Amino acid sequence: MTVTIIETDGVRSHQSFNKARYLSSDTMAAESRAIWSNSWLMAGLICDVQNPGDFFVFEVGSEQILISRDQQDQLHGFYNVCQHRGNLLVGAEHGHATHFRCPYHAWTYDLDGTLKGVPLVDKFAEDPRCADRNLKPVALDVWNGFVFVHLGEQPEPLLTFLGPVASILEPYDFGGMTLVEDQTVHLDCNWKAVVDNFSELYHVDYLHPQHKRMVDCHNDLVRLFEGGHTGVEVPGGTVNQKFGVPEIPTDIQSQQLKSLDLDPNDFNGRVLDVRGAIQAQKRQIGPERGMPYERFTMDQLSDVWQYNLFPNTVLSFTPEHCWILRPRPHATDPNQCEFDKISLVRFPQASASDGHKAVLGPASRDGAFDQPSERPVRDVFGYQAVILGEKTMTDTIDQDVELLGQVQQGMQSKGFNTVFLNEDEVRIQHFHAELDRKLLASS
Ligand code: FES
Ligand SMILES: [Fe+2]
Repeated sequence: MTVTIIETDGVRSHQSFNKARYLSSDTMAAESRAIWSNSWLMAGLICDVQNPGDFFVFEVGSEQILISRDQQDQLHGFYNVCQHRGNLLVGAEHGHATHFRCPYHAWTYDLDGTLKGVPLVDKFAEDPRCADRNLKPVALDVWNGFVFVHLGEQPEPLLTFLGPVASILEPYDFGGMTLVEDQTVHLDCNWKAVVDNFSELYHVDYLHPQHKRMVDCHNDLVRLFEGGHTGVEVPGGTVNQKFGVPEIPTDIQSQQLKSLDLDPNDFNGRVLDVRGAIQAQKRQIGPERGMPYERFTMDQLSDVWQYNLFPNTVLSFTPEHCWILRPRPHATDPNQCEFDKISLVRFPQASASDGHKAVLGPASRDGAFDQPSERPVRDVFGYQAVILGEKTMTDTIDQDVELLGQVQQGMQSKGFNTVFLNEDEVRIQHFHAELDRKLLASS
């Protein structure tokens, strides 16, 4: 495995640590201060607050944050709490409003958080309509189509927090992709167990055997960044040579070649040429397909990248799609979390009228999504629904979801004390090193 370290002071060795961080209420409370109130958090998508009056609510732990765009086109973030007696202000997950009215006693706030209306205002000894009673703001910024919030005092700029990751991922223009699916599954595990799961490919050969001939998960490019961010870059359109090179293209290679108007039969006996052919063909047909392939490197055109933004946002993407995988901590229980899977797809630009669905590879279960006519409703379910086959988040993620509760239960056993990590799990080590650095700094 190649490990590239970018602007960090070295791989902080975290090969072993105590299980308590996944189980303890004390750690959970410490994380609330050191992590959730001290990091930029990916709150949602800019497409949900595109127009004046649009809003959405982001829930993380015991906090709810209301994001709104006011009539002057300014974005705001507030704690979603009425300043009269603390009722949660907005109940809807997202929508469009002219103002926010508390359902309890009808205090009314402008989209910019200003308290405007108070019923029977003369009954208050002092007029509550002053700055003190406006909605309490949080820091907000936008990068690459994502809205971030920070619940701490005087945060560093978002771009400083993201470091080199911001420019590395800029070509992917996630804001130019379309939301096609929005799912949340309730998991019986700590949020960090989910981050860990999506920080290593060590498990892929065993938990996801359907992928093992497609990718060599032990020889990918791993990148570690200052601030706990990590990345892995997985070659696509190829085969895992550990299992030998087949005579004819695999099913997934054939599917990719056909979607690019290439004939899989032309690659019989030349399976290792498929990746380069996919790259070259994308470059060539980008303009007629209405896809901006010119802005990507050749490797990016074929490869699947996964970048984790500290603390809890996992981005898995190609030029044509992005999955946002985001575990959010439970309000009170370290043994539970909510896990979001938000699927974005890049559709061909409207000027390309040949109707190609440009989705390739792992973007969807059935190969392609249609452009949705309206925002998909968020589907919320328990992990049992996945186990029973009533819901799916793709076969691969279903396998992860089914497993994660077992990890949490196993960790609770008296027969287990410490996590023990290898070099293929270096991204987990890096993530926990940053967690510890922040916990220590705030203690
Ligand atoms: S708590 Fe909101 S108006 Fe009373
Ligand atoms: Fe997995």
